[in-house]
Amino acid sequence: MPVTTSDVSAVNASGLGDIDRTGVRVTVEDKSMINARADVNQLLPLKYHWAWEKYLAGCANHWMPTEIGMQQDVALWKSADGLTPAERRMLKRNLGFFATSESLVANNIVLAVYRQLSNPECRQYLLRQAFEEAVHTHAFEYICESLGLDEGELFNMYREVPSITDKAAWALEYTRSLEDPEFRTGTPAANQAFLRDLIAFYVVFEGMWFYTGFAQVLSLGRRNKMVGIAEQYQYILRDESIHLNFGIDAINQIKLENPQLWSSEFQREVRTMLAEGCELEIAYSQDTMPDGMLGMTADSCTQYMRFIANRRCAQLGLEPVFPPADNPFGWMSETMDLRKEKNFFETRVVEYQTGGTLDWN
Ligand SMILES: [Fe+2]
Ligand SMILES: [Fe+2]
Repeated sequence: MPVTTSDVSAVNASGLGDIDRTGVRVTVEDKSMINARADVNQLLPLKYHWAWEKYLAGCANHWMPTEIGMQQDVALWKSADGLTPAERRMLKRNLGFFATSESLVANNIVLAVYRQLSNPECRQYLLRQAFEEAVHTHAFEYICESLGLDEGELFNMYREVPSITDKAAWALEYTRSLEDPEFRTGTPAANQAFLRDLIAFYVVFEGMWFYTGFAQVLSLGRRNKMVGIAEQYQYILRDESIHLNFGIDAINQIKLENPQLWSSEFQREVRTMLAEGCELEIAYSQDTMPDGMLGMTADSCTQYMRFIANRRCAQLGLEPVFPPADNPFGWMSETMDLRKEKNFFETRVVEYQTGGTLDWN
């Protein structure tokens, strides 16, 4: 009996297991985002060039936290009148949110997403992203150590500060079913569970919740405060914009290959997820900045998050969740111009090659 492409599965979906010594060679047509039968150990021939391009862009953006000087930040943090009490509260809660969020995202990638994405070029990007999340976690370790912060306080905020816990708990619900070692995509229910996980982590967690935090710290940096942390956040934001775009491309590609998953009922569910994510973020921004500060008010943070949520809807091909809103923090686009910002912050200049088109919002 001739070997057909449906027999291509040389090894099991994980890329491990027995090698099929008689299987046919992989072609582009055999490859797919989920439930592929093509050998996941064979990168070439490439099918999803967008995933490979993001891997290259991530590598071109390489940076390490310890290359950024923290002397000015340390001096300001230790000076009694360097920051207002409101700025200190905001900064600590901001750092507390990110310090563990990077690990949550990394664990979801490595332990849940990687196993189910059955395409080697996407896995190649995930390996790069996982390393970048480790660099980001390193940044918060470096900041904690440089400023002499209470590490127990910082790294426990995601359990002890309700507005942070609520966000982490919401996202973790979506990775719960994938935690089961027996979980496999392949049925409509399992495929949708996987899509939900991708949406919760890539679109809501990395694509919405990180942005209030970026705006808060970059707003401090614009006022020449905590410039070392602000510079690290710029690099993190640059990485995260690629993570987000990878997630959007991956979700849209899975939709394209499995249109039955993207039912009107499921679309409604996704819009509800984005609306819930928005409400959780608004609560977090009010908790971190109860009286507003740095040109940011409760109203402008709400408007910003709704603007971002609508933009994510558009990227996923969904109707907007909220009435159209302008971006109240248009200055964020300027902070993405790293070369210009180097002079602005007057911190140590480390020139990195920029990779890919930046999509900061
Ligand atoms: Fe990250
Ligand atoms: Fe990320």
